[in-house]
Amino acid sequence: MKLPGKVAIVTGSGRGLGLGYARALAAAGAAVVVNDLDPAAVDAAVDEIVKAGGTATGLAAEVGSTQTADQLVETAVRAFGRLDVLITNAGILRDRVLWRMTDDDFDAVIRVHLRGTFTCARAAAVRMREQGEGGRLILVASPAGQRGNFGQTNYAAAKAGIAAMARTWAMELARARITVNAVVPVAATEMTRTIPAFAPVLAEAERTGEPLPPWVRRDAGLGTVDDATGLITFLASDAAAEITGQAIGVGGDRLALWSHPAEKTVAFADGGWTADEIASQWPTGVGAEPETYGIPAPPAPES
Ligand SMILES: NC(=O)c1ccc[n+]([C@@H]2O[C@H](COP(=O)([O-])OP(=O)(O)OC[C@H]3O[C@@H](n4cnc5c(N)ncnc54)[C@H](O)[C@@H]3O)[C@@H](O)[C@H]2O)c1
Repeated sequence: MKLPGKVAIVTGSGRGLGLGYARALAAAGAAVVVNDLDPAAVDAAVDEIVKAGGTATGLAAEVGSTQTADQLVETAVRAFGRLDVLITNAGILRDRVLWRMTDDDFDAVIRVHLRGTFTCARAAAVRMREQGEGGRLILVASPAGQRGNFGQTNYAAAKAGIAAMARTWAMELARARITVNAVVPVAATEMTRTIPAFAPVLAEAERTGEPLPPWVRRDAGLGTVDDATGLITFLASDAAAEITGQAIGVGGDRLALWSHPAEKTVAFADGGWTADEIASQWPTGVGAEPETYGIPAPPAPES
């Protein structure tokens, strides 16, 4: 799939999934703005893309502030004349259980993920609306935000908020033909390689050079960075012009459409519900089949 003439910004693209997205978009013919905290990683990514025949420029800056968001859009416009695609990928983890999480842990994660997505998307939306030719906002969510995850108060809140913003902005930007989707990736990166369930199998695959086994790639939906890039190129393309307001999972051999929160069971009582009425109705009525929560443990085979 080709993206001729398109201009894309990928935040946090000095390594990991973001670097994979930047490489893939450039290989498809888009001009890419590489961004990261780390100036050396930005320079290396730009060099690599250019040496491979692609077009890229870099901006080393910390996503979160309005200033960085504006600089990113200015960089795209100054270097390539326009902006068509924004991928809000930059992110960090500060995992701790609720009773140990500090204000700094909470604020740092919210700032990069939630505020960074907001500030960058707002700056991109202003530019894309001025251009009047539509556009693509591709936000990065997570299974933790969709389902909750142990130790990830800050991250789950930020990622759930990002999925909520995607649905809201899909409504607000539809008239401008700017699509807004959340991707829910799972891939072996610095961020995931220490997860206890995956660490041994990832280390083994790295050691042997063998592909990850099917229970990892299919059942757990965890694969390489490259497994996650096809979805980004597709969403950036004209083929995805009608797809908006969706949360789309990708990882390993899996591609999935996530459901949005919706009422599952409903009951009515004339004049409203008292506490006693809810208590007697709950076990066999509205609450008869409670929802599950948390990311299911990967179904590792018996060894
Ligand atoms: N790896 C997974 O399985 C997975 C799963 C769900 C969601 N995600 C999300 O995908 C995105 C990328 O994850 P990854 O696994 O590649 O992580 P990673 O840690 O390998 O890469 C993240 C990159 O973002 C950069 N970064 C961090 N804070 C930044 C900031 N304020 N400004 C600019 N750059 C910043 C880092 O320097 C790093 O290069 C994140 O948003 C993450 O939450 C990843």
